[in-house]
This record gives sequence, structure tokens and C-alpha cells, in this order.
Amino acid sequence: MQMPYDHMIQENISLQPYNTFGIDARARYLAPFDTVDAIEEALRFSQRQGITGQLTLGGGSNILLTGDIDGLVLKNEITGITIVHQDADHVYVRAGAGENWHRFVLHCIEQGFAGIENLSLIPGNVGASPMQNIGAYGVEIKDVFHELQAYHVRDRVVEKFTAEDCAFGYRDSVFKNKYRDQFIILDVTYRLNKKPVFNTSYGAIAQELEKMQVQELTIRAVSDAVIRIRSSKLPDPKETGNAGSFFKNPVVAEQQFDDLKTRYPEMPSFRAEGGVKIPAGWLIEQCGWKGYRKGDAGCYPKQALVLVNYGHASGREILQLSNDIIASVQQRFGITLEREVNVI
Ligand code: FAD
Ligand code: EPU
Repeated sequence: MQMPYDHMIQENISLQPYNTFGIDARARYLAPFDTVDAIEEALRFSQRQGITGQLTLGGGSNILLTGDIDGLVLKNEITGITIVHQDADHVYVRAGAGENWHRFVLHCIEQGFAGIENLSLIPGNVGASPMQNIGAYGVEIKDVFHELQAYHVRDRVVEKFTAEDCAFGYRDSVFKNKYRDQFIILDVTYRLNKKPVFNTSYGAIAQELEKMQVQELTIRAVSDAVIRIRSSKLPDPKETGNAGSFFKNPVVAEQQFDDLKTRYPEMPSFRAEGGVKIPAGWLIEQCGWKGYRKGDAGCYPKQALVLVNYGHASGREILQLSNDIIASVQQRFGITLEREVNVI
């Protein structure tokens, strides 16, 4: 007998509307879920079809699909925002993994909960925010993370993860490597500040606030400044397919940095944990890729770290372009760029 949930599962479906690169790959099965019961039904369904493994999808803004998925794609639609605890300084807010990240940020700003205003306008969902410890303008999720709940696919139980359990790093966590595809994040609890601690020292925020003629610094003003900066240099996925920074900014050892700086005195750099961070966008631009286009795959003219799909590029074409960029940066600078985007 067929279970009622099976009707929710779509077969042989294009994932083009579900990834911001706009890649037209297909999934054998696409199963939306908003409860643990629904996850279990979907897993039982796929087991009956002889499928092992699954891909969990949020907003599809950090993936590159390089082919059809002959299996199960689970689409996270768990919603809900709740205050779970408060003390004198903090409010602990839990959000369902399927909540849109930017809408959640705006909701917190409206309530006066501070701490994630610098992370405004990052695409995707709450559930993926710990996955790569999303970051922008001097703030990372780890700074406000309290805990999360995730479903362990093999053991079929819900487990709690503290920040320590998540082992957050620069664009990294256990979910991106050690536990890849083993857990489905259900909800995330953030520890937000009742009194804002403004972080406006990074990048162009202070300049932008000045341009906006902001009289009184508020979390809304910081959010607006971040939105203005981001909109001026990052492509809107609704217009041009992309997944944000395609590569991580490499961190090199002091000695290697000194050698490079002698050869390239104008090379920008930042102090970072474990060495010196060099903007990959600069390295890629120096190699002549900025604005490059082959077919519909390209390197964005305003931000060389972003690879774009101008319409009908395949995932393999974007991947090939990324390989060519890695090879040329390696040859010129002796630095191996690492992809930030999840290649699937
Ligand atoms: P998806 O792309 O759907 O998934 C990403 C990965 O996480 C996949 O491997 C997926 O399997 C896994 N995953 C997703 N949800 C779950 C879940 N519930 N449980 C377990 N695994 C899950 N990122 C930054 O850090 N900083 C930025 O400033 C930034 N700017 C961006 C700008 C643009 C224009 C774009 C397009 C992207 C940008 N990104 C940035 C990347 C992206 O927005 C983030 O990585 C975001 O968190 C991805 O969320 P998502 O829901 O779209 O994840
Ligand atoms: N640069 C160039 N040419 C370019 C692009 C950048 O020379 O085409 C150099 C410039 O010197 C510039 C510097 O790189 O000052 C830094 O550029 P930018 O401020 O645009 O930031 P980024 O290092 O390219 C990182 C994150 C972004 C995040 C911004 C703001 C990574 C991989 N990327 O980009 O995150 O929004 O800082 O904090 O760390 C993402 O992860 O998807 C993402 C967009």
C-alpha cells in the first residue's frame, strides 16, 4: 500500500529552479520535508527504490551540480522562529533550517536582536549557515552560534551539536567534511545580543555609513550599508547564475608571503589564523581571468572570485573553468586555490 507522503515526492525533476547557478540538472526524486517524520518517510521510500545516500538541499546557493542526481534530493522546508531563552544580555533564538537566511536576519533586526546584521543579504537558508560557518564583513556564524539539532541519517536519531562539536573554521565545519551528507540539520539556535556590539571596521562599511549620512549607528543602518555594498559588487542570482565566492581566500605561511610580497609589492593581504590571507579575487584578476567568458561560463567582471552562468552553461563547463583558474594561479603564484562551493 502506498503511503500518503509518497505523493509529495516528485520524480525526474529539473533542479534548475533550486540552485542559484541555474544549472539544469535533474533529480530522480525530489522530496520536500518539514518534519522528521517526513524525512523518515522519504528515506523509506528511497530504500524501497534501492537508492542509497541522499542530498539535502537548502536554497541551493552554494552548490555546483555537475550532472543529474540518480537518487534522492531532500528539500528542507522546516520553518518557525522561536525565542527559547533570555538572560540579561542575550536572547537565544531558534530558527527552522528551512527559513530563508536574509528574512531571518531582517526579522531579528526588527526585534532589536543584534549580532547578525553584518551577515545581511547572504542567500540560502538557516540550515546551511553552520555548514560552512557563513561569514561576511568581519562576522561569522560561530560568533553567535549556540547549538543545532540534526538528524543522523544512518542511526535515525536527532542529535544536538554545540559550537565545539561543529568544529567551525573559515568556511568550514564538521558538516562540510567529516560528516558530509550524514546529518540533516533541522534547526539552529543563535545567541543574539540585546545591546548591539557594532562591527564596522571591516571593508567599506564605515565609508558606506558615511555616504548614507547616518546620524545614529543602529543595527538597521549597518544592515543597510552591507546590503548596499553587496548589491554593488555581487551578481544577483535572479539575473546571473552564481554561488558567491567560488574559491576560499588562501592562507599562506609567513615565509611564502614574504617571498610573494617581494615579487608583487602591490599584493593585498590580511593577517589570519595560521598565516597571511591573500584575496583570491586579486590572484585571479592578476592571471587575467576577470571578465573572461567562454560560452555561458564566465568570471564576473566586477568580482573575479565569483564564477557565473550567463544562461545555459553546464556544471561541467563551470567546473572546467574553475580547474583552469586553479592551474593558472598555481603556475603564477605557487598557491593552490581551494573551492568554497560544494561540487556535486
Ligand atoms: P545549499 O546550497 O542548498 O547547500 C549547501 C551545502 O550545505 C550542500 O552541501 C548541502 O547538501 C548542505 N546543506 C544545506 N542544507 C542542509 C541541512 N539542512 N542539513 C545538512 N546539510 C545541508 N556565503 C558566505 O559565507 N558569505 C557570503 O558573503 C556569501 N555571499 C554569497 C553571495 C551570493 C550572491 C551567493 C549566490 C552566495 C553567497 N554565499 C555566501 C554562499 C551561500 O549563500 C551560503 O553558503 C549559504 O549558507 C548556502 O545556503 P543554502 O541554503 O543555499 O545551501
Ligand atoms: N580583489 C581584487 N579583484 C577582484 C576582487 C577582489 O583585486 O576582482 C581584492 C581587492 O583587493 C579587495 C579584496 O580582494 O579589496 C577583497 O575583496 P572583497 O572585499 O570583495 O571580498 P572577498 O575576499 O573577495 C570575502 C568573502 C565573501 C564576503 C566578503 C565580505 C570569501 C571566500 N569570500 O570575499 O563571501 O562576502 O569577503 O566579507 O571569504 C562567499 O563566501 O560566497 C562570499 C561572497
